[in-house]
Amino acid sequence: MAATIIDGKKLAAEIREKLKAEIQELSDRGITPGLAVVLVGENPASKKYVASKEKTCQQLGIQSFGHKLPETTSQAELLKLIDELNADEKVHGILVQLPLPKGLDAKEVMHRIAPEKDVDGFGPHSLGALMLDEPGFIPCTPHGAMKMLEAYGIDPAGKKAVVVGRSIIVGKPLAMLLLRKNATVTMCHSKTPDLKAECLSADILCVAVGRAKMISGDMVKEGAAVIDIGINVGPDGKLVGDVDFQAAKERAGFITPVPGGAGPMTIAMLMYNTVLAAKTRAGLKMSF
Ligand code: GUN
Repeated sequence: MAATIIDGKKLAAEIREKLKAEIQELSDRGITPGLAVVLVGENPASKKYVASKEKTCQQLGIQSFGHKLPETTSQAELLKLIDELNADEKVHGILVQLPLPKGLDAKEVMHRIAPEKDVDGFGPHSLGALMLDEPGFIPCTPHGAMKMLEAYGIDPAGKKAVVVGRSIIVGKPLAMLLLRKNATVTMCHSKTPDLKAECLSADILCVAVGRAKMISGDMVKEGAAVIDIGINVGPDGKLVGDVDFQAAKERAGFITPVPGGAGPMTIAMLMYNTVLAAKTRAGLKMSF
């Protein structure tokens, strides 16, 4: 039987609707949530992502402060901008689009962002809180993945979850979130000897590698929930995921499409974190 398609686009729209009420609550107190979006260089994919993030801010009434810096920007210049944004009252969240051009040290930049403005959740404070099961900013893509599972009634408790890819942006935090929900989690990566066997054991299969269709249909267990976090450009210029969607949907129980799955959810959760940052500073709680 063909899989249920997890509609990330619709779910993201629902989250944005809920956020509008939160933003109104802030607006009633004279507060406009502000997100600084820093883009260094000319990476075409990064430019597209940043444009979508800024557009969504506008739609919701979040003020976006765009900082487009040239490829030649030095580490010191970038750190100086971060310091200014850390000190700027109008800025509640700071996002530095990754990857940074060669020669810039992303880790040092992540360390420099004030913990209370780390809406991407990539800094040591946020990632530490995640490990400790303490409240904090959860990285947006893994957070979106968990929301998709939840929305479709897929409870990780007692299930075997396999995460393919060990990045700080997705794989590692997603594994922690699945563990938090009592899944038995396996992390796979380029040195995993038998990726197919691991994937076939997964009730929940999450893939975040960045290689088009690397997961074929025969790597998916019957009835599994498949969360595809890859965004790749196919030979025809269209977006394709890390999973061979057409083949996998014949075996999976649930599957996210690309586009229309993890992508829109990532942006929705970034908006969530930005509103969370603004509400926390105002001494208010999120209602969801
Ligand atoms: N590059 C790819 N995904 C992300 C993300 O979620 N945040 C940032 N800042 N950069 C990214």
